[in-house]
Amino acid sequence: MNVSGKKAVIFGGTSGIGLAAAKQLAAAGCNVIAVSRNPDRAGEVPAGITLMQCDVLDREAMAALFRECAPFDILISAATGGGRAMGPFLAMDMDGYQASFDKLWGYANVIRFGAEHLSENGSITLVSGTPARNCKPGQVSLSSVGASVEALARAVAPELAPKRINVVAPGTIDTPINPMQGEERTAFYSSATADNVIPRAGTAEEVAKGIVFVVENDFVTGTTVDVDGGWLLS
Ligand SMILES: NC(=O)c1ccc[n+]([C@@H]2O[C@H](COP(=O)([O-])OP(=O)(O)OC[C@H]3O[C@@H](n4cnc5c(N)ncnc54)[C@H](OP(=O)(O)O)[C@@H]3O)[C@@H](O)[C@H]2O)c1
Repeated sequence: MNVSGKKAVIFGGTSGIGLAAAKQLAAAGCNVIAVSRNPDRAGEVPAGITLMQCDVLDREAMAALFRECAPFDILISAATGGGRAMGPFLAMDMDGYQASFDKLWGYANVIRFGAEHLSENGSITLVSGTPARNCKPGQVSLSSVGASVEALARAVAPELAPKRINVVAPGTIDTPINPMQGEERTAFYSSATADNVIPRAGTAEEVAKGIVFVVENDFVTGTTVDVDGGWLLS
């Protein structure tokens, strides 16, 4: 797909990985609608990006947004959906664990209500995470939610054809999802990535390049592309 002149809707397109994808697609001539609960937090955005408000868990609002934006060619969701329960599973707060699956429900809503408005050669891209297939201690919720996201995309791909669906799985990426500041932040990223083949945090732009790859390549569907600095090998 040549993205120039195409229309993209990106949930979670106002921060981190989603915003980086929005900027790369807009720079390539795409008309991008970047959506989140508080889109003003994106600040000033480049020409080609329009901000809209919607919670991925609000099905009616999402269906209305899709009707307003339709038709479109590229549908992406990087929206976290809600909280993420971390820590050992045997000490897990089960409401927190259940709430971590809001990411899956948000992605499911995006597919269910967005697919019908996608152009025939259009594509959907979701964002999972390396713990889906290589879980470090304390990451059971990230692992089980991420694996569900990847399985959902594989399962839905044949039904969706000729439209395509793919997942990009980031490793440890330095984005606003991490509230730590200063030395604490630096120490966290060096320790979290020390065992990786490439021992540093990735950038949102590096993950966005993976997203743009699966959007542009018409021969890629039902798969997961890892952008993880070699975490899977650790
Ligand atoms: N950063 C990492 O190390 C890393 C690693 C593996 C996987 N991931 C995954 O990559 C994706 C993007 O993460 P990121 O690091 O770029 O995070 P981020 O900078 O915090 O961005 C998350 C985006 O999702 C939006 N969002 C969250 N809940 C939403 C909801 N209910 N409805 C609509 N929009 C919602 C946020 O905007 P509002 O708050 O305004 O709604 C924001 O635009 C997430 O799925 C995350 O789990 C990240």
